[in-house]
This record gives sequence, C-alpha cells and structure tokens, in this order.
Amino acid sequence: MSMRVSIIIASDSSYEGRREDLSGPEAARIMKEAGYEVNAVQILPDDRKMLSDAMQKICDRNEADLILTSGGTGFSVRDVTPEATLDITERQVPGIPEAIRAYSMQFTNRAMLSRAAAGIRKQTLIVNLPGSPKAVRESLEFILPALQHGLEILTGEASNCGR
Ligand code: MTE
Repeated sequence: MSMRVSIIIASDSSYEGRREDLSGPEAARIMKEAGYEVNAVQILPDDRKMLSDAMQKICDRNEADLILTSGGTGFSVRDVTPEATLDITERQVPGIPEAIRAYSMQFTNRAMLSRAAAGIRKQTLIVNLPGSPKAVRESLEFILPALQHGLEILTGEASNCGR
C-alpha cells in the first residue's frame, strides 16, 4: 500500500502571492516518483498557530502518514516551523533532521543554520525541510530510503526491523 503524504509550505511571500512557490511542486514530484500518494499541498504564512493547527488537523483526522513542511526553519523572526511542529508532536524524532543537516553540509555549510525538527503525532510523522527546491531535493534524496521503513513501523505495516 502506498503511503500518503501532505505537503505544507511555510512562506509569507508565497502565501501573499508575491512569490511563486517552487518547493511544493518539487516535493510533490519527488514523492510521487518515490511511490507516495500526494494528497494535499498547502501554502501557509509563517504563523506558528496556523501551521500547528494545519498539522494537527491532518494528524488527528489521519489524513496522511507523513507531513513534509518546507520553509521557516532559519533564523528570521518569522521562521517558526520547528516550534509549530514541536507544539503538536507527541514524540520527537531528532535523528531525521540531524541526518539531513549532516548530509547537507557537503552542499553548503549553511545547512547548519536550519533548525528543522521532526516528530510524531498519533500515526503521522512530520518532517521539516528547508525552504528552497534545491534543499528539498537534497534532503529528500537522502532520507527517503530510511523514511519508508519508519513509516511502515509507524503505520503498523511492519512490526520490527528484521530483514
Ligand atoms: N540544506 C540543503 N540541503 N541545501 C540548502 O541549500 N540551505 C540552508 C539550510 N539548509 C540549504 C540547506 C540555508 S541557506 C538556510 S538559511 C537554512 O537551511 C534555513 O532555510 P529556511 O529558512 O528556508 O527553512
């Protein structure tokens, strides 16, 4: 069975229509190619409450197995995606953003500036990605193989790590 993914773009400028969002389509393309069912791509402003409400709704209604966010992980005062994520997750998954940052350092040492988080609420995993299509691509190519296994455990499709 294919896993369901919802994509949330956190960007004031794209929400206000001042800048075309390219990260959402890029994330959707990569996930479809990897066999995921992409059930929604929404653009929200960098607003902690709006972001956490949107994530919480998807988790509580079990609308997706995975939520990918893009943007709002940096140092700007409006960058609050990790805080919004941690507001509503029940269990943290620090290894995923740690792995993304470590892998991404080969592309840019600014990878260390991403404060991205990841966590689980109910049966849904939330992973923050940085805001550019390039960062989305670089991050996803690295985490996708392991992510699949994690989601199988989370959704009960696999029961352990045996191979
Ligand atoms: N990670 C990867 N793989 N590739 C990138 O180009 N850009 C970095 C970093 N992580 C980048 C990356 C930069 S420049 C910043 S400021 C932070 O992500 C935060 O980005 P965000 O505020 O768009 O989330």
